[in-house]
Amino acid sequence: MSDKYIDFVSGGFGKTLADRLGLPKPVTLRRHAGPGTPLVTGPVLVVSDESSRTDADAVARAMLPWGLDVRRDTHLAEDARWGAVVVVLTGITHPRDLAAPVLELGSTLRRLGRSGRVVTISRPAVGGPPAPEVTAARNGVDGFLRSLAKELRSGATGNGIVLADGVGVVTPSALGTLRFLLSARSAFVDGQPLLVTGPGAEDPSWDHPLQGRVAVVTGAARGIGAEIARVLHRDGATVVGVDVPAAGDSLAAVMNGARGTALQLDITAPDAAERIHAHAVARHGGLDIVVHNAGILRDKLLANMTPDRWNDLIAVNIAAPLTMNRTFVELGRAGGLGPAPRLVALASTSGIAGNRGQTNYGAAKAGIIGMTRALAPTLAELGGTANAVAPGFIETEMTSRIPPVTREVARRLNSLQQGGLPVDVAEAIAFLCSPAAGGVNGQVLRVCGQSMVGQ
Ligand code: NAI
Repeated sequence: MSDKYIDFVSGGFGKTLADRLGLPKPVTLRRHAGPGTPLVTGPVLVVSDESSRTDADAVARAMLPWGLDVRRDTHLAEDARWGAVVVVLTGITHPRDLAAPVLELGSTLRRLGRSGRVVTISRPAVGGPPAPEVTAARNGVDGFLRSLAKELRSGATGNGIVLADGVGVVTPSALGTLRFLLSARSAFVDGQPLLVTGPGAEDPSWDHPLQGRVAVVTGAARGIGAEIARVLHRDGATVVGVDVPAAGDSLAAVMNGARGTALQLDITAPDAAERIHAHAVARHGGLDIVVHNAGILRDKLLANMTPDRWNDLIAVNIAAPLTMNRTFVELGRAGGLGPAPRLVALASTSGIAGNRGQTNYGAAKAGIIGMTRALAPTLAELGGTANAVAPGFIETEMTSRIPPVTREVARRLNSLQQGGLPVDVAEAIAFLCSPAAGGVNGQVLRVCGQSMVGQ
């Protein structure tokens, strides 16, 4: 499942050949390597338009405790490279307000370091002041950001924080989202605007934000689910891994590694949620986080689709999470969940853009997005959130079975020109489960390297 092409074009003959032929030259992305991993790899520049200056000053000050070298002017020593540029645009009221800050940003891009970051902070076009100029300006940030992200190279990413009117720039959720997007934890998140609608709460610590939380991850025996279990444990949670009895041995191995407990269970069982809850309470004293990760593929063109293939997929990928959530919500209303419950479900870019041969999967994954949005207000009543993560091409056993040529095309079709790793999906999920992400609710966070599919 390794990407030999990246090794090939990283030096020597391969690099020369790629240069000559204009072939993609992806780089190995910088990833979080535990406590002590620097947030970024160089100074962080904060730029803004005139009307956003106060917010920009506040953001710059708030980043200092993160140990960053924060600058407000573009002067940089000869041999230095920017780690990140944060562009604060919260006050813009006309598209012409974009010119000064984005051109200032543009002047820094040639010196943006490897796996560097550009993060915009702006206000939403929808639900803001009704003046067309304001809406045009705010929506303009979206188009600007998505285009810029496609221009960045060497593993650098561009993402946006869209702060609902009334949510301050230094609230825990605004800063928590900024810190995640700056960090190596968001390596494969690219070209994404993320809406923040509430203040959230302080993380107990950057390294262990999930301390004291009990999480359940379905489909934890392998692939992305196994990595989610590991990362939630790394971040301080106690994890219950769920998988079918046939995967019992690998589930046990994963959960031993994550110092959690294994529960052999088919999630299509009508009482799956009750059994998960009973296990979590009996073994770990409660339940705070549910990650709906288990999923199957039953690909066929619709003309060849059989009832079994359609129905099995719908049963596992969307009907089971729906049934389980009904129970979890009832339990939450009866005080059976922690005070800030989190639901995160795995969608897919196939559920956003569609994919040939995947009508059943596309219906189910789009269903996950619908379910998440519908549950968000209910979870908010319980003090929690419901969000979805939509991975693009991720290097797993599942994708290693795609025929080589199709696979090679699919994994390069994004701005980072490579497939993501299971850990990239797991990092996004861990972030959405953190107290600081409490203001992110009902959102779909894509972990797709800005896949060309569905943009
Ligand atoms: P995988 O096939 O490697 O792992 C899925 C796990 O779910 C397996 O351990 C399986 O035993 C378990 N599972 C299946 N049916 C179950 C059931 N009825 N009850 C309990 N457990 C069950 O899949 P992978 O690649 O790790 O994907 C994980 C999730 O991410 C899935 O929801 C998938 O649709 C989604 N996804 C994956 C992408 C990729 O590129 N690999 C891209 C987009 C989304």
